[in-house]
Amino acid sequence: MEDLAPRPGDLDPIETASRDEIEALQLARLKATLAHAYANSPFYRARFDAAGVHPDDLRTLSDLSKFPFTVKTDLRDTYPFGMFAVPREQIVRLHASSGTTGKPTVVGYTRRDIDTWADVVARSIRASGGRPGDIVHVAYGYGLFTGGLGAHYGAEKLGCTVVPISGGMTERQVTLIADFRPRIIMVTPSYMLSILDEFRRQGIDPRETSLAVGIFGAEPWTNAMRTEIEQAFDMHAVDIYGLSEVIGPGVANECVETKDGLHIWEDHFYPEIIDPVTGEVLPDGSEGELVFTSLTKEALPIIRYRTRDLTRLLPGTARSMRRMEKITGRSDDMIILRGVNVFPTQIEELILKCRGLAPHFQIELTRDGRLDMMTVNVEATPAQASAEARAASARELAHHIKSVIGVSTKIQVNDPGKVERSLGKARRVVDHRPKS
Ligand code: DLL
Repeated sequence: MEDLAPRPGDLDPIETASRDEIEALQLARLKATLAHAYANSPFYRARFDAAGVHPDDLRTLSDLSKFPFTVKTDLRDTYPFGMFAVPREQIVRLHASSGTTGKPTVVGYTRRDIDTWADVVARSIRASGGRPGDIVHVAYGYGLFTGGLGAHYGAEKLGCTVVPISGGMTERQVTLIADFRPRIIMVTPSYMLSILDEFRRQGIDPRETSLAVGIFGAEPWTNAMRTEIEQAFDMHAVDIYGLSEVIGPGVANECVETKDGLHIWEDHFYPEIIDPVTGEVLPDGSEGELVFTSLTKEALPIIRYRTRDLTRLLPGTARSMRRMEKITGRSDDMIILRGVNVFPTQIEELILKCRGLAPHFQIELTRDGRLDMMTVNVEATPAQASAEARAASARELAHHIKSVIGVSTKIQVNDPGKVERSLGKARRVVDHRPKS
């Protein structure tokens, strides 16, 4: 694979600034954000007043812990535009979550917000090894989801040629990759696996494509999956993180030269890690829930937004901005099976250790009397055809899960192609247990 480390002068000066410079900028921007939210968003004014805090109470960055959290239901309760801090006429774009559970959450952007967003995505693509002039194949969904348009504006801003194919029509994805010869692909890692299957189905060697870098995110994925995809395509695979409430993709991104976690673009997003139960701020290095405060947003300043994503903050390496470790999972996705906490990412890592199994999986939860049961649906690789070989793979996986995570599970090894495929974010857990 190519060495893609950036050349000196390629980076924004703030990417290599000292911690003191970064923190001084954060403090100034944080003060301005709190003042803006208090002055222009009745929601935040009421929240701050109820908590007995005022923007003037923030003198140092750590004073932020005095301010109340914002959660997803706050956006639902103020649906659709109740949290905006600018007149609706200044909003040039809306995005929304899918809203599978009740009302969608709506987010808005001013023209300057769209510009900021394009800047952080452009920076993310560059950190991934992208350069002006590259062809970028965007297979994140376009529409109300922030993935497609977020990637699109960032790639344009960097000076790339964008192929806005969106998700789906997998056959055509392969055709366009073969014909247009993009250097970069931006897509969810689970959908990249569907594209991989399609390459093989069409008899095209995925290692021979023009792709040099994949920028994967919008769902949790493991370092084991990185290795799987990098080997399959002979390309670099890097992680991009973001969420619509904070801006969309481009809140944090891995650097291709280190691939050691995601640098948070701290000049725009201020991270904290909290204990998810007590809400207490934890020191860097501790595992907990990631919380973000926007530093430059106009339309929807977001103060101490609880992401539900679990990770740790680590010092900078390839850039001076802090890193977040790859997300373990969302607290909502944590399965508690007979008292043991299980994350789908742990299962993914163990499946990828079993040679006869493909990387697709889905976890099913059922209840047998009072006992919760977990079935891991996996697929045999095409080479793993015999019943004996599949039974051996099932035993191997069950053994890994029992010894590493400590729970007994049923393993269902299916024919190739039988596990549900995603066109975007994969559905890793299907819960059939009766609601209590
Ligand atoms: O998924 C934005 C995005 C689009 C990020 C494309 C990256 C690429 P939402 O639909 O609001 O926004 O979902 C946000 O997705 O809180 C995480 O739980 C999860 N997520 C996003 N990126 C990652 C990642 C977009 N790299 C939610 N690793 C977040 C793990 C991720 N989880």
